[in-house]
Amino acid sequence: MFSPTGFPECLREWEDLEKSFHQIQDTHRLYKQKLEDVTKLQDSCSGAIARQRKKLEELTASLGKCKENHPAARLSPEDVDAIAEMEASIKERADAFSEMEAFLPKKNGLYLSLVLGNVNVTLLNKQSKFAYKDEYEKFKLVLTVILFVLSFTCRLLFSYRALDALFNFLMVWYYCTLTIRESVLISNGSRIKGWWVLHHYVSAFQSGVMLTWPEGALYQMFRNQFLTYCLYQSVVHFLQYYYQSGCLYRLRALGEKHNMDITVEGFQSWMWRGLTFLLPFLFFGHFWQLYNSVTLFQMFQLPECKEWQVVMCSCSYMVLFMGNFFTTLGVVYEKYMNNPDKSKAL
Ligand code: COA
Repeated sequence: MFSPTGFPECLREWEDLEKSFHQIQDTHRLYKQKLEDVTKLQDSCSGAIARQRKKLEELTASLGKCKENHPAARLSPEDVDAIAEMEASIKERADAFSEMEAFLPKKNGLYLSLVLGNVNVTLLNKQSKFAYKDEYEKFKLVLTVILFVLSFTCRLLFSYRALDALFNFLMVWYYCTLTIRESVLISNGSRIKGWWVLHHYVSAFQSGVMLTWPEGALYQMFRNQFLTYCLYQSVVHFLQYYYQSGCLYRLRALGEKHNMDITVEGFQSWMWRGLTFLLPFLFFGHFWQLYNSVTLFQMFQLPECKEWQVVMCSCSYMVLFMGNFFTTLGVVYEKYMNNPDKSKAL
């Protein structure tokens, strides 16, 4: 790097800096102007979409009335065809508007407004959306490794209630953070099913209940089963990470038209291979949740059971089992039905 020594050199350097400072000021002014232009364009797009939506709703209602008041006999076949065509186009327009809105700022839902306030969380280009999702998957991976180490330590090395509390506290924090990140992802057009978000609220609640469960005979009775389950869950989360980040990268490659390394069939076949490998681990985990629920329910019926945490955890595990099991079955069924070549699926 050049560092001036004499005063004339310092003067020249200062003049150069002055010049580039003015350039920076000009560029920044231009940047602010463009930002204002972008904000105006966003407002005008959002307004136009809202107006079109309202008009399309009114038009749909009017078309409905036309069909009711003029039974098919009195409408010419061309009119009936034109109405059907118009209705199909109206449905397509709704999808087009949703796609446009993924790149426009919108008001936060209740949860994000409560947690973050009224801050805009819409990411305005595909690269930032991809980077945010990628970062979310990596965050889950890092926390999975930390939780694995902690549950291993609690299960096999040290048996201290304080360490268990630290583990459960970390789980509460982790699941709460996931709910926030997932709400941001949904705002940015992610298709995460409602259950997976709800699953993280239930898990946060369940970890909170475990955190408050006082030390005692019943706690010790369930402790080993719980910690072994947590160890297993970390392994499943790791496999899930491998599958989901693989899907993410392949989908991105598919989205980039110039990338010829992957085809739709290639993606489908990779996805089915990944799912076939993952599903037995997932279903085993779901039945372990059912087993935890039943064990806790049996403990609840013991005469010495005084802690409310036992029945609460039992109910939470039952809710988790039902939601996870049926949603996973639904996801697999949906994917199977949408697969053009069903013979190669599963
Ligand atoms: N948590 C968070 N996000 C999830 C998710 C989950 N469990 N399952 C799916 N998603 C996301 C996907 O990343 C995708 O996001 P995108 O729209 O931003 O790309 C979107 O939801 C749609 O995913 P979909 O195509 O329906 O499913 P998939 O192929 O990504 O994953 C499963 C399917 C079955 C592997 C996945 O849902 C899963 O692992 N479920 C089981 C979770 C579980 O039971 N955990 C407990 C283990 S003991």
